[in-house]
Amino acid sequence: MKNTEILQTPTLLLDVNQMDKNIAEVMQFAKEHHVNYRPHIKTHKSVEIAKRQLEAGAVGITVATVGEAEVMVNGGINNILIAFPISSENKLERILTLMEQATIIVAVDSVEQATLLNNFFKQHKQTLNVWIKINSGLDRCGVEPTDEVAQLAQHINQLECLLLDGIFTHAGQSYTATSDEMLEQIAYEEAEAILTSAAICADVGIHITHKSIGSTPTFKQAGKVAGITEIRPGNAAFYDMVQVSLNVASVEQCALSVVTSVASVKNNRAIIDAGSKTLALDKGAHGNESIMGHGYIVEHPQLTIERLSEEHGVITGAGVEHLKINERLTIIPNHACTVANLFTHYTVHENGEVVAKWPVDARGKLS
Ligand SMILES: Cc1ncc(COP(=O)(O)O)c(C=O)c1O
Repeated sequence: MKNTEILQTPTLLLDVNQMDKNIAEVMQFAKEHHVNYRPHIKTHKSVEIAKRQLEAGAVGITVATVGEAEVMVNGGINNILIAFPISSENKLERILTLMEQATIIVAVDSVEQATLLNNFFKQHKQTLNVWIKINSGLDRCGVEPTDEVAQLAQHINQLECLLLDGIFTHAGQSYTATSDEMLEQIAYEEAEAILTSAAICADVGIHITHKSIGSTPTFKQAGKVAGITEIRPGNAAFYDMVQVSLNVASVEQCALSVVTSVASVKNNRAIIDAGSKTLALDKGAHGNESIMGHGYIVEHPQLTIERLSEEHGVITGAGVEHLKINERLTIIPNHACTVANLFTHYTVHENGEVVAKWPVDARGKLS
């Protein structure tokens, strides 16, 4: 009997060989297309995994919050893009502390924020690296790839304590793509938004060194457009059912799963010990509508996890009555990033044998 078969459930299981393979494939792509790889660690929130990505060749990492950056710097990682327009003084104090140990880059998306950053760093006699966030269609943060980018770049350039040397975007709307063609179009627009913005900056005499794109569904198309210098996929370390539904990955490439047990079988339904606190209700980012149910049951793909309450999952479908109490089911989550954030650690396995436990170090680091 493999030792994963005796784990208490629910457990977050990580197939380390598959994950390493996924990371190696992104790195291979980056090498072939001469772009840097700066993975978003929001997916795994693990120092160990971030280090493996750096060992594979990543130039640094991307995070969403100062708290995630703190965890990673404490873990020894020293090149971090905080891909969020931070401006509050208490968070800037924390960034200042991180800058003693690491290169930190902060996203900027308005003249007002840039001024706040400059005032703060001037007071502390420090220079902050900033990258302008460009909106490539997600309509979240970011300036438009128009005159707006030139205005912001010019404003930053005349501020004495900000150093502008990059622009970046994230085409999260790729998650709503309903065909390969639509995905390709979004990826193309993502790259275009960056290249247009860089050209607009060049026209006003501002050279942009780093031109960064990044989402897991788009990086393979956008990342090979000439002129792009960096990719930032996060989910690609694990993949999940959303990526499978978008044709971006296969079920076999998914490295993360949740092992759960059947607790009850009755009236054409079975109950498992994984509910919304384990599998998350999330069916993918930004209004993705391609997902059925709350995860893929590897041993019984014809069955559906139809609904979740907090600690219960309800399975239905042909043959559900044959499930047995205590039977273990392996579920590939819909959205790996939100599921990882719900667990304290990964149970890491190689071919079904547990080899390590890794903490989800930055789970819950929301601020
Ligand atoms: C700014 C930024 N970069 C990169 C990523 C990674 O994208 P994905 O999760 O599709 O890999 C995200 C994800 O939200 C993001 O917000």
